[in-house]
Amino acid sequence: MALVSGQTLAMQGGPKAVKSDGTDKYPPFLKDDVMRRIGALLDAGIITIADGGGIITEFETAYKALAGTRFALTMNSGTATLHSAYFAVGVGPGTEVIVPSYTWHASVTPVLHCAGTPVFADIDPATLTIDPMDIERKISDRTRAICVVHTWGNVADMDRIMAIARARGIAVIEDASHAHGAMYKGRPVGSIGDIGCFSLQGVKAVSGGEAGVATTNDPNLFDRMVLLGHFGRGPKAEGNRTFDTLGDMSLGAKYRPHAFAVALATSQLGRLQDLNQKRSRNYAILNDRLRNGDGIEIVEPREGCTRGGYLEFKFKVARDVLNRVSLDRIEAALNAEGAPFQKDRYSSMNFTYGLLHQAPLFTSFDRRSLGGCFYDTKSYNGPLESASLPVTEDVCTRLLSTYAFVDVEDAYLHQLADAFEKVLANISAL
Ligand SMILES: Cc1ncc(COP(=O)(O)O)c(C=O)c1O
Repeated sequence: MALVSGQTLAMQGGPKAVKSDGTDKYPPFLKDDVMRRIGALLDAGIITIADGGGIITEFETAYKALAGTRFALTMNSGTATLHSAYFAVGVGPGTEVIVPSYTWHASVTPVLHCAGTPVFADIDPATLTIDPMDIERKISDRTRAICVVHTWGNVADMDRIMAIARARGIAVIEDASHAHGAMYKGRPVGSIGDIGCFSLQGVKAVSGGEAGVATTNDPNLFDRMVLLGHFGRGPKAEGNRTFDTLGDMSLGAKYRPHAFAVALATSQLGRLQDLNQKRSRNYAILNDRLRNGDGIEIVEPREGCTRGGYLEFKFKVARDVLNRVSLDRIEAALNAEGAPFQKDRYSSMNFTYGLLHQAPLFTSFDRRSLGGCFYDTKSYNGPLESASLPVTEDVCTRLLSTYAFVDVEDAYLHQLADAFEKVLANISAL
């Protein structure tokens, strides 16, 4: 990237670097197709499905094909899939689950609902996914599971993580909520660990508005997830009668999805490949422009992997730039240029991704005071949550974020990169 100094920044009255219209023309859903699917349900008088048939079977059949697993279980949220997964692999009182701090809180909080204790691990700065070396450091004889998040569609280091887990009999849960359709060395995410968890919430690459789907090859794990939250879904996993004596009973967490949500998700699943191809192309354009720039560090895809889902576009501003000017100031200058980049906060909630290990819920707050399943979390003499995660803490102060563009003009993407060149070349004026 050739840094051209001497241009007047837009925040100081100069012309904006971004001149093209950045409106994403990709429709959030295919209205006619969704209406047809929901209309068919209404015509048949179907507004709820308890036994996993009809549109739920259709969706799960397609999702199993995508994830390459024997089973898929649709639920009403991604959070529900994570709770079900932790329950299924036996997270309980006195057990620990190694989790990244750089993730949405729902990768972690369901551990508490199983009366387990989250133990935070650091991330690899290049990919923003959990660091296998830190996983090894955090393992104890209480570790029951590792939660791997394929952050922003970038696949975690699954070979190393699976080797660590298998050598010790620890389960691996893949939180693939950002990564629908991503591949790890030819294998779909959601099929590599013991259970894959996918949010199908409104902004996700496959969305039912609110929904989720869990994938597994293990009939016993599937049965345990059914038992937790799917009254009426029996007989349970094909050919497997783990909980035969319980009949259709469930443990009462009602994780059944709404039939209309599944109809929407089925429609969306049909265009996932197209969405991922378009996002990949746009990422490549932006990354190729930004990659060589002094002052910017790209989040590179893991070698041998295909990114999918994406959710948001991220990159890091170099530390030496931030020693000279604050990220707030860079953000303001970029926004003035017409480039919609923002610090890695969670949209309007102003919630910063990735510092969960510093959140009061995991540090100062005595969760035992809540009672219920929270009684156990700090009641043994094992290690409490890790106090410091240097990479996560560093990276979180350096990330900038923008949309995972699907259908915008190439010129617009180039102008976003131009805005960066301009702002970075004029730091002294900020
Ligand atoms: C990484 C990750 N895990 C879990 C979830 C929870 O999914 P849901 O909102 O569908 O419950 C999300 C949602 O944004 C997420 O990003």
